[in-house]
Amino acid sequence: MTKRLFIKTYGCQMNVYDSARMADVMAPHGYAPTDDPDGADLVVLNTCHIREKAAEKVYSELGRLRALKDEKARTGGRMLLAVAGCVAQAEGAEIVARAPQVDLVVGPQAYHRLPEMVARVLGRTGKGHGEIDTDFPADDKFDHLPRPHATGRTAFVTVQEGCDKFCTFCVVPYTRGAEFSRPAGAVLDEVRDLADQGVSEVTLLGQNVNAYHGEGADGAEWSLARLIEAVAGVPGIRRIRYTTSHPRDMDEGLIAAHRDIPALMPYLHLPVQAGSDRVLEAMNRHYTAADYLRIVERLRAARPDLALSSDFIVGFPGERDADFEATMDLVRAVGFAQAYSFKYSARPGTPGAALPGRVAADVASSRLARLQELLSVQQAGFNSACVGKEMDILLDRSGRKPGQLVGRSPWMQAVHVNAAESLRGSIVRVRVDAAHANSLAGTLAGASGLAAGGRAVA
Ligand code: 5AD
Ligand code: SF4
Repeated sequence: MTKRLFIKTYGCQMNVYDSARMADVMAPHGYAPTDDPDGADLVVLNTCHIREKAAEKVYSELGRLRALKDEKARTGGRMLLAVAGCVAQAEGAEIVARAPQVDLVVGPQAYHRLPEMVARVLGRTGKGHGEIDTDFPADDKFDHLPRPHATGRTAFVTVQEGCDKFCTFCVVPYTRGAEFSRPAGAVLDEVRDLADQGVSEVTLLGQNVNAYHGEGADGAEWSLARLIEAVAGVPGIRRIRYTTSHPRDMDEGLIAAHRDIPALMPYLHLPVQAGSDRVLEAMNRHYTAADYLRIVERLRAARPDLALSSDFIVGFPGERDADFEATMDLVRAVGFAQAYSFKYSARPGTPGAALPGRVAADVASSRLARLQELLSVQQAGFNSACVGKEMDILLDRSGRKPGQLVGRSPWMQAVHVNAAESLRGSIVRVRVDAAHANSLAGTLAGASGLAAGGRAVA
């Protein structure tokens, strides 16, 4: 009998990828995905530990799930509750102590062992202690995962995990461990497999993706630029992205890839975190604001239509008004198409948590509000500058209105287009007619419009 698997994903794209792989690993054991936790046989929370709020959400969700689990037990069924991801890695057994309804805790490097863990829990009668596996096994989990199941035209592929940079605010080096690059051959096999299933856009993922240094098909060490070049050669792959990058690893070869590889999309997420050299140093970022601006200049020289997105932290310990103004200056100097910004959240075990000079919550809040205002003006400006332009859109899902499809522009904008269902999955030429806060609307242009039987009216 088919069992139902509900996975809720928090946090970054790596977790989205891991969740998909957990579904792949459970599929041969009879578990089919469901989008409702009510009545599910296995519920997995794939968690994020990056900021305090993200971790707290997990515990409130576990409270709600407890009711569903009890409900299922009353009708003679059994719902297993699993906590995966970075909270699992960071808190391990504490989760079961705080939330005894949890049956399994599995870290990001151990989820290929989920089926055995589930079998062990199911084999026990009565209340057992939670199964916990937060090892960093010596073997490569990717060698134990089944082939990925594509769910559309776009797919993530993890190429690198972990981080050795130790930014003083960040838990990643502790939750995801030391840097590890998958061999290029394994990445390329996965990309070929996805392309065979119809995928045309891949995003290469890593916590520090541009530090990639995997073993190449020729035995030499490959850089990310070399890997991107090889991925671009896989038949069917038309668009490539990579995330997340550290400015320090933005080397000449990777910058040149933006010039030389047409499939590499002109959009780059390059977190800067702050614009003050004092704060950047305290964060252990190993670059200055001027270094960052210089990298942006070189990238734009290589690929003039490149748009940038970034991450910012305000209220890092010791951040003064003048430091914050330096962040605002940097934002004005770069001009971002999109950005994420956060108030600093002291994370247990990180060096930042022990730094003096805590910034008062209201000061941090008002800085964040000012920064977000500036960033949203920039984002709106970037979007409205697209009106009247033609661009290639990968139409990969239905819109809310009938007859409408939604796709992504090269710059990651969602674009709504009136288009026949037969065009779903293809890359079409679209003229942008309007810009909204978080999306664009456009009309099929040129050959795409003709293929769809004339001009579609928005
Ligand atoms: N507090 C606030 N933001 C953080 N980030 C990482 N750690 C913290 C923290 N302790 C942000 C950074 C990073 C993004 C993924 O999350 O901006 O780039
Ligand atoms: Fe965290 Fe810094 Fe590593 Fe990024 S580079 S994962 S922010 S420690």
